[in-house]
This record gives sequence, structure tokens and C-alpha cells, in this order.
Amino acid sequence: MRHFTCVQDLGDLRQALNEAFEIKKDRFRFNELGKNKTLLMIFFNSSLRTRLSTQKAAMNLGMNTIVLDVNQGAWKLETERGVIMDGDKPEHLLEAVPVMGCYCDVIGVRSFARFENKEDDYNEKILNQFIKYSGRPVFSMEAATRHPLQSFADLITIEEYKKTARPKVVMTWAPHPKSLPQAVPNSFAEWMNATDYEFVITHPEGYELDPAFVGDAKVEYDQKRAFEGADFIYAKNWSAYRDPYYGQVISMDRNWTVDAEKMALTNNAYFMHCLPVRRNMIVTDDVIESPRSIVIPEAANREISAQTVLRKLLMGLSGL
Ligand code: CP
Repeated sequence: MRHFTCVQDLGDLRQALNEAFEIKKDRFRFNELGKNKTLLMIFFNSSLRTRLSTQKAAMNLGMNTIVLDVNQGAWKLETERGVIMDGDKPEHLLEAVPVMGCYCDVIGVRSFARFENKEDDYNEKILNQFIKYSGRPVFSMEAATRHPLQSFADLITIEEYKKTARPKVVMTWAPHPKSLPQAVPNSFAEWMNATDYEFVITHPEGYELDPAFVGDAKVEYDQKRAFEGADFIYAKNWSAYRDPYYGQVISMDRNWTVDAEKMALTNNAYFMHCLPVRRNMIVTDDVIESPRSIVIPEAANREISAQTVLRKLLMGLSGL
């Protein structure tokens, strides 16, 4: 594998899941693979889980790691070509990226949607500049439109907890006070659509996602009806995708908060969320603290998804 930005990059998904479970059984089995190799992790946005789990995954493989928070201590980067750089950004991405590539073997990038230009966001302008100019294998640690390491961990978790071959998985929008990107729900939909699960998306009208990610998923505007018989409830907020409201909060309707009454409509479903989560906006305290909440094992699997991806990238570097 040369780069990792979406589910298709993994190739055979069943095979990738088997590799993930192999790593989970013995996460130090491949600790020679990354010897003398350096992972550079570039963060344009904050992180807790991605930062820690990816660094741990790299260390499990014997890699060295460097973490750069672009907005804390690095030169502020200009990303537009043709700009007269007389403002507050002393360095251009077009020099910075190849320079970063000189100091490492693999690069992970976190760069969220900016909501300034929908086309730039959905063309993954920043991530693609790393792919084009770094000269290194690049993987997404959450980009403008997808969060594939999270979705891979979500899938691993569902595979571990599912009781039937074809569980009903429901992704529900839930309220949040800030504008959040569509990367997690886009990506989760893309990964669920790559399985044969029954997959349903529920959200208020106006929060329709990009049809390219929704694919053949069923969209149900009645949240309670969507919850009926569900085996997994995956809660997430996202801002509007459709114009003219792209990137905006158009509703904070707390009738969409996941609570015990709604969970009672399900098939004793497990509750999932990628975290961080705003309690009593997205989900009530009692649901997230219940024995059916699997948000912590889900987060723990971030180490496994990252390690599976890094292993594949390292194997690609070695021509394996
Ligand atoms: N779920 C997730 O990516 O968490 P962080 O934003 O803390 O990395």
C-alpha cells in the first residue's frame, strides 16, 4: 500500500480485518519492520486519540516518531499558490511539505475541513499536497472529508461485538453547539457500505450528507423508527453539507440526543461514538455509562487500526 486515505486503499477488507485481529493478538510481533524508520505526524488540528494511538502503533512496530503541531511552534503556512506573502504566513506549504519529507519515511496528516471553500475541502486540497509533494507514503489522520483510521477501528469493534452475521447499524445525527466537519459520518458510511451489514442513516432534514458517501444506505428521517431493532447505534454530529448552508449548524434540536428511552427501541444495541463527545448534547450520561456503551474499546481499537495501516505502508516501502 502506498498511501491510505480511504477504505479502498486497504484492498481486500476481510483480509485487512484478519491482519488487524492478528496484530491485536500480538502487537509486538512485527516490531522489527519499522526499525530505523521514522513516522512524522503533522497536526493542523487538535487530537487526543489519534495522536496517542498512532504514536503507540508506530512504537509497537519499532518506528521512531516525530510529532509536529503546525499551529504551535511551527511557521504559519500559506497554502494558496500565487498569494503575495506579505501577511502573517512566512512559509509556503510547497516548500514545507518536501522539507518535512526529508526527515521521515512515512507521514501522517490531520487537516480538517476549513469550511471556507467546499470544493477545496471535498478535493482534499491539503492532504493531496502532502501526497503530491512529500515524496513519502502519506496516511490520513482525519482529513477534510474522511477519517479512515477511525472508521477502520469502528469496523473492528463492530466485528468483535456483533452477534449476527449481518447486524443492523444505525448512524444517527445528534446535536452539537459548534460546526463539525462531515469527515467522520462520511467515512463511517463509506466503510459500512463496504460491508454487507444493514446500514441506516438518520438525521433531521437539511443534514443530508454527500450522496457519494451515502451510497445505497437507507436514509430515515424518523430517528425512533430508525432505532427499531438496531444492533449498534453510532452517534455523531455533523454540520450541513448542502448549499447554501455548507459547514453551518442549522439545528441544535435536543430531541435528537441519544437517551435511554430511544435505546430501549433497539435490539439491546451497543452505543458507539468516536469521541470526544459532548454529554447530554449527543448522548445522555446514563447511556454512555451503561454496560452497552463500547466507546472505550472502540477508542482502544484505534491503536490496532493505525498499526495495521502502518504495517501495510512499511511493507509497501520494503517492496513486500
Ligand atoms: N476520534 C478521534 O479522532 O479523536 P481525536 O480527535 O482526539 O484524535
